[in-house]
Parts: sequence; C-alpha cells; structure tokens
Amino acid sequence: MGDSSETVGETTTPPKRPHSKILVDGGDPEETTRIRRLIGFVDGQTTNPSLIAKNPEVMHLVESGHRLTEREEAAEYRKIVQAISPLVGDAGVSIEVFADLNTTADEMLKQGREMSSWISNAYIKYPCTAEGLKAAERSVAEGIRVNITLCFSQQQAASVYAATKGSRAPVYVSPFVGRLDDIGKNGADVVRNIKRMFDQSDHHVLVLAASIRSLQHLLYAFHVRSELVTVPAKILEQWAQEGMPLPSDDFAYTPVGTEIPYEELNLEQPWEQFNIEHDLTRKGIQKFVSDYKSTLRKAS
Ligand code: E4P
Repeated sequence: MGDSSETVGETTTPPKRPHSKILVDGGDPEETTRIRRLIGFVDGQTTNPSLIAKNPEVMHLVESGHRLTEREEAAEYRKIVQAISPLVGDAGVSIEVFADLNTTADEMLKQGREMSSWISNAYIKYPCTAEGLKAAERSVAEGIRVNITLCFSQQQAASVYAATKGSRAPVYVSPFVGRLDDIGKNGADVVRNIKRMFDQSDHHVLVLAASIRSLQHLLYAFHVRSELVTVPAKILEQWAQEGMPLPSDDFAYTPVGTEIPYEELNLEQPWEQFNIEHDLTRKGIQKFVSDYKSTLRKAS
C-alpha cells in the first residue's frame, strides 16, 4: 500500500486535501477506521440498506441461520451508525429509511425522526420520489438534516432544491454516477449539470457524488468541485496507493456513455412542477428492499 504522505527534508507534509469532502460509502465501522488510518481523515459516511446487509456482523447472523426481525434489523443499523459516528468529520453519517414503492411520506418521516435521534451527526436519506420529497420538506422544517438519494437527473436535483428551500442545515443531493454508466449514459454529466445549475442558487443544496466505481469517477468529482463525494473503501485504497492524486488542470475524463445534456430550469418553481420520475430511482428502491428483506425473518 502506498504511503499517503511525502517526506520533504526532515518534515513530513501531508498530501493536499481535495476540495470535495470525502465520505466512506459502506456499512462497517472497522472499514471506516482502516480508511481513516490510511488516508488520514474521513469527513463523513454514507450507508444504505444493501451496505447494511453486507455488514460482517449482519452477514454472520444471517449465514448462521438467524434472520432478523424488523426491530432487530433497526437495532443492528443503529449499533453500526453509532460506532461510525465518532469516526467521521463534519459531513456526518447518512442513514437511509427503509422504504418501498408504497411507503408514504408519514411513514418515512416517522423513521427519519427516530433515526436522527440515534446520533448527533445524522443525515436522513430519503429517496428522490414524491413521498420522499414530502418527507424531506417536513424534515427540514423540523431541523432534521437530509440527504436525498437515488437522484439520476437534473430535474430531480432541482426538485430537491425547491422542496427544501429555507433549510437551516445544508441539504445533500446524491446523484448516482455508476448506475447511469450502467445503462449507457455518461453518469458523470449529471454531477456536472447539477453543479452548474446550482452555481446560480442560494447554495443550500450541496452535491454529494455517489455510486463512484473508479478512480476516474473520483477525480471527476474533484474536478467539478462536487462539495462531497462518497467512495467505497476499495476505491479509496486505490487512491491512497497512487499517492492520493488530485486532478491536474488539464484533467480529461473519458465519457463512458451518451452525453446527458444540460437543461435550463427555473429553480424558483414549486418542486411538484419538475419531472421527478426516473426508472433507476424505482429500480434502486426495489433493490434496497430486496437486500433489506434478505436479512429478515419471513413473516409467518
Ligand atoms: C450512497 O449514498 C449510495 O447509496 C451508493 O453510492 C450507491 O452505490 P452503487 O450504485 O455502487 O450501489
């Protein structure tokens, strides 16, 4: 593994920090500790139901035949984020509500209130759907910090902006790069477009580039000055191994799919007027539900 610092004469200078805050995309406190040692800091953490299902303790329980009740699953999730919470900086720990396509805003908000009481630096993740946005709107009014996840378009990000206007705390929106690449689009464009759109805004929404699958994705997030980026441990290990590089001035990103063009949108519209439908948002919710259910005891 490469050393993440450089020795100049007698002193050791730490590598330059990127503009973007770095969050670990995972569900295992030991992994977060390891990354903190490796790169010297971790600004925050994102979790989701799939990552919690992959937590070593949860996997061990499931493999030994112990399926969890919903209450036990929530208790495991709470234990995991409570262990991660003190390991990270001011970007906090994102905790995702358990929602399927029929979960109402009231139900999400109830979970959001409970989850935000688990740790002092919680960001509650709601899906970028009408119900998720209603829950987010009410959450920010109550002072609960939010991260709107499963965002795949500029219109969805605009709706997050409009729904959370007036929030005292910064709001995160998470565009998913890798999953857009998976369907033949150049996922990185959505981060660039949202950043450009928010240039002319009140800046209460910060961009958290997510679904980062490669070093190129990571460097691109730095390049477009995404305020935050959440990164799986294995990509951070690769970044450390290469000496924690930052993109050079002539950094060029090789597009991996068809371009996603920029749209001129009026951020002052009510959020309901944006087109928030996206097939990948629906599919993402279904995938989280199935990973979550794989750890649960079947209802008798
Ligand atoms: C983080 O908030 C997201 O849930 C995560 O980055 C999704 O990554 P994936 O598309 O690789 O599952």
